[in-house]
Amino acid sequence: MVLLEKIDKILATDDPSQLLEWDKSFGFHPHENIPAVITKAEGVTLTDAQGSKYLDFLAGTTCVNIGYGNRDVINAIKKQLDASAGLTGLAVNPSSAKLMRVLAEIAPKGLTRCFMISGGSEANEMALKIVRRATRKFKIIARWGGYHGNTAAALSASGVLNYKMDFDPVLPGFIHVPPPYCYRCDFGLEYPECDVMCARIIDYAIHYEDPKQVAAVIAEPIIGWGGVIIPPKEYFPMIREICNKYDVLLIMDEVLTGFGRTGKLFACQHWDVVPDIMTLAKGISSLYVPCSAVLVQEKIAESLGVAPELSPKYVERGIMGITSMNHPLACAAALANIRVIVEKDLSKNAEKMGEYLLSGLKEISEEHPFLGEVRGKGLLIGLEVVKDKDSKEPDMEKGRELQVKSIFNGLIIGHSAMRTRNSSILLFTPPLIVTREEVDKALEIFQKTISQCS
Ligand SMILES: Cc1ncc(COP(=O)(O)O)c(C=O)c1O
Repeated sequence: MVLLEKIDKILATDDPSQLLEWDKSFGFHPHENIPAVITKAEGVTLTDAQGSKYLDFLAGTTCVNIGYGNRDVINAIKKQLDASAGLTGLAVNPSSAKLMRVLAEIAPKGLTRCFMISGGSEANEMALKIVRRATRKFKIIARWGGYHGNTAAALSASGVLNYKMDFDPVLPGFIHVPPPYCYRCDFGLEYPECDVMCARIIDYAIHYEDPKQVAAVIAEPIIGWGGVIIPPKEYFPMIREICNKYDVLLIMDEVLTGFGRTGKLFACQHWDVVPDIMTLAKGISSLYVPCSAVLVQEKIAESLGVAPELSPKYVERGIMGITSMNHPLACAAALANIRVIVEKDLSKNAEKMGEYLLSGLKEISEEHPFLGEVRGKGLLIGLEVVKDKDSKEPDMEKGRELQVKSIFNGLIIGHSAMRTRNSSILLFTPPLIVTREEVDKALEIFQKTISQCS
């Protein structure tokens, strides 16, 4: 009874300073730590307990693609909860079956087999297991600056040294090559004379590591939190060809870029490249409920090693199982969320508003010596913060200062803490429902922030 009273007292607390204190004392803070208790979230705007408003130009952690408070999705989740059907992965639940069918419909050609799980790291972890199991090879080629998650294999695939260094040794078998980072080319070359060396290096890497041992190449179509690194148009078609040549699988990590963020439903569609495996999370459910998926080509599903008397869908019992797989709440949220993205054509809005925001940021950056290249696709935009435009030397402190002051001024933006060659990049990734007026307001706040930091 004493314990119950204590719990009830805790439950009854809504004093923001007490909540902040508990959060600080009892939690961990690996993400941006905005010292506010958010009590309302609607569209692109967050409101804290004191009534201060923030334009969320990060969309949470680049995941709330449809914006906050969408009633269609909330109602679908409530309806699923009321039905409370199938809260176990042991039998078929209707939402999960429908979601897998919808994903097969919208995904690039042939990606029809689906593992439903709950996070981006977990999806990549699963994809890396699948390629090893399917090919019986173990080496993976990845890129420096790429980010695939914080669990063991996903972190090993990530090329972000500052995230990995305290956890060495990470798993063996992961080989990294330079990213397609034209602003600071690792080969000291310039596009197009470079002949896309950053893609050709993957050919060399597979060749020298032995195609008989290399299972897959893993890549984000556009490196996101590693600094919005957009490849030249030839890059992924070349990688697709290289993978075909050596019989190596291609995993596209669309955890951040999927579901309209870059102006297409999936970013690999910008270059008409179809991967063998695609991982999805974040925008799949706009994080109303955590959800992720691994989409796999049929031929890979078949080669996973299945009990012959069962359909190929049924991977040997246990080897890939996770308790929360195909969770009906996650599936119901994702289904309703995808419907909103398609119904409102949010990819198109991301393309239009992305161009508008990009040109506004370019105008601002021209006037300031410490703002370097601004680049983006759709509503995935990065801005380099430098000591000066000629040297392009990254300015970490200034980048962080701009981010913190911007949040203080009511505009939430990101600062890439994943260091691709120590670069200092501000991230602008608002929900895909953002309006022209909200972009104007954000640019106004950012302009004000810059004048405070100049
Ligand atoms: C491209 C990419 N892959 C994987 C992940 C990991 O996803 P999660 O944080 O849901 O585990 C992220 C997270 O930011 C990401 O951006």
